[in-house]
Amino acid sequence: MAVQPHFLLITYPAQGHINPTLQFAKGLTRIGVLVTLVTSLSAGRRMSKTLFPDGLSFVTFSDGYDDGLKAEDDRDHFMSELKRRGSQTLNELIVDSAKEGKPVTCLVYTMLLHWAAEVARAQHLPAALLWTQPATVFDIYYYYFNGYGDIFNNCKDTSYAIELPGLPPFASRDLPSFVLPSNTYTFALQLFQEQLEQLSQETNPKVLVNSFDALELVAMNAIEKLNLVGIGPLIPSAFLDGKDPLDKSFGGDLFQGSEDYTEWLNSKTKSSVVYVSFGSILVLPKRQIKEIARGLVDSGLPFLWVIRDEQNKNEVKEEEEEEDDHLSACREAILERQGMIVPWCSQVDVLSHPSIGCFVTHCGWNSTMESLVSEVPVVAFPHWTDQGTNAKLIADVWKTGVRVVANEEGIVEGDEIKRCLDLVMAPGKTGEDIRKNAKKWKDLARDAVREGGSSDKNLKALVQEVGEGCF
Ligand code: UDX
Repeated sequence: MAVQPHFLLITYPAQGHINPTLQFAKGLTRIGVLVTLVTSLSAGRRMSKTLFPDGLSFVTFSDGYDDGLKAEDDRDHFMSELKRRGSQTLNELIVDSAKEGKPVTCLVYTMLLHWAAEVARAQHLPAALLWTQPATVFDIYYYYFNGYGDIFNNCKDTSYAIELPGLPPFASRDLPSFVLPSNTYTFALQLFQEQLEQLSQETNPKVLVNSFDALELVAMNAIEKLNLVGIGPLIPSAFLDGKDPLDKSFGGDLFQGSEDYTEWLNSKTKSSVVYVSFGSILVLPKRQIKEIARGLVDSGLPFLWVIRDEQNKNEVKEEEEEEDDHLSACREAILERQGMIVPWCSQVDVLSHPSIGCFVTHCGWNSTMESLVSEVPVVAFPHWTDQGTNAKLIADVWKTGVRVVANEEGIVEGDEIKRCLDLVMAPGKTGEDIRKNAKKWKDLARDAVREGGSSDKNLKALVQEVGEGCF
């Protein structure tokens, strides 16, 4: 009798990695694959763990930072403990699953956890990387470490200096911040290098990308030696293909939300509300928060703004600063019900609400894909890592939004935010073109995951190849 396919997935314990991994896991269970999903105890304790389907087992392990990683912790030590204890857990799970008659047939690991591929190799299992950023960003890292490194150092913002095979021309603000000369996160760049070295040791290296062919076909095929495969968008089914109408959230939220925005959203007219969120990691300087408040209030548009509790704690640290007119104006606007501020929300649910007309986003890759499948135009407000590249794709390639311009001190002023909101939300040509493009990409995204669509086929082909021992 054929063995039931059993995928062992390990995700880096951050929201931007957990969400797509959970959707990948759900997609696998829908086609009859057993899944064991592994992450750290600290993330597991916080995760909401809702709507996990039958066939998905969830396992946590202690990485030694069970209360979560703090800013003052030694990141190198954290990464090495994650590797040591994570490898041990994967090994044990592989052995135990075989004893229980459900042998693991494939190991999939998210970016930053490339050591998992060594475990797979030692256990003679096929392994694949789940890349949770665009194929374009993967290619940029590849080129950086394979012959193009020097030209990145000479890239200036004012001119399009970087030409890479199969990719649009880039200025420095369009590149992942880790490849820029100003990068201070050297450990991150080193991890990407190790990741690429790891893949180069595989005979049939496979990179599963949370993207889809129509969106990034050239980038997906740019690197001959590596097999990049689009399996996205990895978004809860109810908002995408409807294969599982009950699948209405990722189910792994690390933050406490509030439900009380729904009634408020319901009270607004179609496409009138600006949704503002900067993901799960960024903490903005107070000056920036004030300018966002000014832009939103001056726009006169209703807004729903996610400000995580960490941001508020940061504000408390800066509380000796004087109260600012813009923030108090924002508070007044909220009292007058122009806006709402919440600590967290179900973003996929909010983006699919008919009253949402625009998303002011940091351009994290998940937020980018979620805006795309929801047909919501974007004000792109990137900060670091892949976000500049994602903003470039949004504003110049897919043309589903506009990008803010920061002042010389790196702050995006309120007037600039209002200018961008006017462009996207007002009836003019820019807004109309953006809305047309947003509709086009939404349709293509949904086509990709439909029965027989490119991502649907790629996922099924992966499971088949594993079953046939082809990689
Ligand atoms: C991080 C990096 O910052 C990002 O650049 C990279 O592409 C992925 O890893 P993060 O900043 O958290 O991610 O942003 P993003 O990728 O957008 O992921 C955030 C996730 O949290 C999204 O799936 C979003 O739906 C969810 N979210 C965010 C909520 O559910 N509610 C919120 O209130 C805010």
